[in-house]
Amino acid sequence: MDRLPRHIAIIMDGNGRWAQEQGQDRLYGHFHGVESVREIVEGCAELGIRYLTLYAFSTENWDRPEPEVTGLMELLVETIRKEVPTLNKNNIRLHVIGDMSMLPENAHRALQEALDMTATNSGLNLVMALSYSSRWELVHAVKRIAEDVQASKVDPAEIGQDILQSYLATSAFPDPELMIRTSGEYRISNFLLYQLAYAELYFTSTRWPEFRKNHLYEAILDYQGRERRFGKTGHQVREDSGVKW
Ligand code: IPE
Ligand code: IPE
Ligand code: MG
Repeated sequence: MDRLPRHIAIIMDGNGRWAQEQGQDRLYGHFHGVESVREIVEGCAELGIRYLTLYAFSTENWDRPEPEVTGLMELLVETIRKEVPTLNKNNIRLHVIGDMSMLPENAHRALQEALDMTATNSGLNLVMALSYSSRWELVHAVKRIAEDVQASKVDPAEIGQDILQSYLATSAFPDPELMIRTSGEYRISNFLLYQLAYAELYFTSTRWPEFRKNHLYEAILDYQGRERRFGKTGHQVREDSGVKW
């Protein structure tokens, strides 16, 4: 318990294939994926994890067939709206990262309400990556930095990692220590490319709709068995261990 990651990020993948394996429509998989979200949010809150980022919809996912996109959007917004009382009961604060300009107006409004209604909660920070992609985020950040340089608000000579970080959608959150991807794919799919620089990556073949607390614990235990070296030697790391973990 004293070596828990502060921030866990999850690529919730495999809903469609899970549904098709049951002889069902892809949306059936998304629907069941919601139950996994509930479980994992609850599991993280129970453990005292500070930040949980869930990749729910990428900017590339807009190119899926229209009925899937519409169904998924409705499900996401409906779920967030319905879960607000539970979030409040569990002191969970909701955040959203992504290109909100792509969302339909009603989705936008529902999200804003949920954000406002959980804004004073001080427990787990639940970050939904919705209409998010890392390249979108980086381009957006670069544009805003350029604007601020032009307006003489930022001196180019002073731009370093701290300033760049402050323009990212994740500026208020520390980098994830652990990134989990379900469904058996070994890729990042445009998720937190900058922030995952030193994250421990954990891949499991379990499809997202079947991912439960025990799978989360397995991932955390695996993470805890790793030596995080941050470019140093193993010897150096072990010498000042207790600090490094
Ligand atoms: C993840 O499941 C959910 C989203 C990307 C929205 P998928 O829908 O990608 O399911 P697979 O990968 O096709 O099985
Ligand atoms: C990544 O999954 C996005 C989310 C889980 C929301 P995808 O299913 O879209 O990724 P690819 O297409 O397999 O890389
Ligand atoms: Mg997928």
